[in-house]
Amino acid sequence: MCASISGFSKLSKSKKIDWIVQTYFSNAEDAKRILKQYWNTNDKLQQLHDEFIENTITNYYLPLGVAPNFSINGKLYTIPMAIEESSVVAAASKAAKFWMDRGGFKTKVISTTKIGQVHFIYYGNPETLKSYFNHIKPQLIHDAKPITKNMEKRGGGILDIELRDKTDDIKGYYQLHASFETLDAMGANFINSCLEQFAKTFKGEALHFDAFTEEERDIEIIMSILSNYVPDCLVRAEVSCKVDELSDDASISGEEFATKFIQAVNIAEVEPFRAVTHNKGIMNGIDAVVLATGNDFRAVEAGIHAYASRNGKYSSLSHAKIENDIFSFWMEIPLALGTIGGLTGLHPLVKLSLELLHHPTAKELMQIVAVAGLAQNFAALRSLTTTGIQQGHMKMHLMNILNQFGANEIEKSALTEHFKSKVVTHSAVVEAINQLRMIN
Ligand code: MEV
Repeated sequence: MCASISGFSKLSKSKKIDWIVQTYFSNAEDAKRILKQYWNTNDKLQQLHDEFIENTITNYYLPLGVAPNFSINGKLYTIPMAIEESSVVAAASKAAKFWMDRGGFKTKVISTTKIGQVHFIYYGNPETLKSYFNHIKPQLIHDAKPITKNMEKRGGGILDIELRDKTDDIKGYYQLHASFETLDAMGANFINSCLEQFAKTFKGEALHFDAFTEEERDIEIIMSILSNYVPDCLVRAEVSCKVDELSDDASISGEEFATKFIQAVNIAEVEPFRAVTHNKGIMNGIDAVVLATGNDFRAVEAGIHAYASRNGKYSSLSHAKIENDIFSFWMEIPLALGTIGGLTGLHPLVKLSLELLHHPTAKELMQIVAVAGLAQNFAALRSLTTTGIQQGHMKMHLMNILNQFGANEIEKSALTEHFKSKVVTHSAVVEAINQLRMIN
């Protein structure tokens, strides 16, 4: 049934639920029971979650797992990961252990600049606009002082504001292109507040700028917003070891493995169909840590994929080579993260995740997240170029299928044992469950 409603947001939570279950579900009581099953019994905690967004009707759980044994610049971490996909945490843990025994991950923050823009339309003389911009720039910075003063005390703030002429793309289109240092804050609110103040000053003061004609004074602000494209907020993660130390499996030599692995990376560098999946594997690690630490994974995703296309063609984020008998595998990615503000001080599991990571600064978190991505990519390529991905995946998937069929603990352990030496397919698992149930 299709239905519309007005004033939904004003209803109480229980009235919202009543309307939803009665309007959309054949078994309203059952739907209500499921929704309530996921409420927290601690009313205060539930209220906290209710108030993160609007129209909350329940909580949507994701597992929070941990991947231990990550050695990053000589320091050991257990990394929290919030993700629903089976095998991601197992793969991260495996890669962590593999590289812990070979010198660990090395990381470096290259830059931390974030960007925001005021987009506006002006049809007048470009030279007059330039002189207005030069005249008003100190005031743009000055008028934003109430917003920037605390950030400045900590060492951050506005780095620069440029006037950019985009009239080749759209008639009359210009930008105030501003750069910021937001330290441990992701900085979205800070940047957006600064930009809106810039826009106000820029438009308002134009009315009093003598060199403008009457028409030129009428600058039209289109919008003021930060950019999630942060190519100058960059972190590097790397692993390396001697080629012959690479294999811990007698079936393949270090050199064979390295050569095949590098070919797999080369393919992702030149072939967009492969690059997207290759980078998706990297994002399995990145998103899981970004989510666990209360950061905005949509922003991170958008920024990273834009970066992967920066040379005009979507390409691999990671790279690999052998030089002087040393295999190295590395990645540079843009990451705008925060460890203060936003959800970081609110969500109990985010706070716990940050404590697990030794209360990292934003720079440290960038490095941890990049490592999780590189580890995930290493694990995926290692499986893909040796055993194939399905072996590991289907083993993990086995548990999902067993849960789907309501297998009890005895059935789970019997079937896990059974599939140790067999290929896991959906139909094989179903058949095995049925047979086991027939015997018992
Ligand atoms: C699956 O979530 C991720 C992989 O497809 C990544 C890859 O192919 O490199 C295994």
